[in-house]
Amino acid sequence: MVFRLKERLGKRFEEEVQFFKGWQKDKKGVGALIPTSIHTARRMASVINPRSGLPVLELGAGTGVITKAILERGIKPCELVSVEYSQDFYDGLTQRFPEVDFRLGDAFALDGVLGDRKGEQFDCVVSAVPMLSFPMEQRVGLLEDLLARIPAGRPVIQITYGPLSPVIKMPDRYVVSHYDFVVRNIPPAQLWTYRRAV
Ligand SMILES: C[S@@+](CC[C@H](N)C(=O)[O-])C[C@H]1O[C@@H](n2cnc3c(N)ncnc32)[C@H](O)[C@@H]1O
Repeated sequence: MVFRLKERLGKRFEEEVQFFKGWQKDKKGVGALIPTSIHTARRMASVINPRSGLPVLELGAGTGVITKAILERGIKPCELVSVEYSQDFYDGLTQRFPEVDFRLGDAFALDGVLGDRKGEQFDCVVSAVPMLSFPMEQRVGLLEDLLARIPAGRPVIQITYGPLSPVIKMPDRYVVSHYDFVVRNIPPAQLWTYRRAV
C-alpha cells in the first residue's frame, strides 16, 4: 500500500516536472505552470454524454490529466480524439494512452489536423487550449469551428483562469454560460460552456 502511494506520487511528480519543462519552453502556448487538478478535470468531463454514441474531442491535452478524466467518464480510448500542439507532450501522451487517437497539431487549423475524421460529429469538446494567449478574433473563430462539429445544444467546455469568459458573448450566434469555479486547482479555475441554440 505504501509502495503504491509512493509510485502514484512519483508519477504525479514526473507529470508536473514534464509540464513545467513544457511551460519553460513555450510559456504562452502552455499557459499554466502546473497541470489542471483532477477535480477540475472531472468537472470538465462531467459534461460528456457517454451514451451519445459520438466520439469526444479534446484540445490541449498536455500531460493528460483531462484525457484520463474523459476515459474515466466511460469513453472508450478509441472514441476520444485529442489534439496537442507540443511534440514533447504528444510523445508522452501516445505512450501513456496508446489507444487514444492523438493528433499532433494546431487546434486553430482543425480540418488539417483531423484529416480523415474532419467531417465527424462529436458529442462535445473539452478544451484546455490557453485561449487568452490568442487574439479575440481567433478565439471566436475557433469556438465557431468547434460548435459546427457538435450537435446544437451540446457544449464546448473551456477552462480559463480569468474572471470573464475567454470568448466574447455573441447571443445571436451562441450561448455562453458559466459552468463552475473550481477552487481545488492552482490557480483556481473558471469553467465556461458554449452552445449553439437548439
Ligand atoms: C494549460 S495547458 C493544459 C494541459 C492539460 N490539458 C491540463 O489541463 O493540465 C494548455 C495545453 O494546450 C496546448 N496547446 C496550446 N496551443 C495549442 C493549439 N493551438 N492547439 C493544440 N494544443 C495547444 C499546450 O501545448 C498545452 O498542452
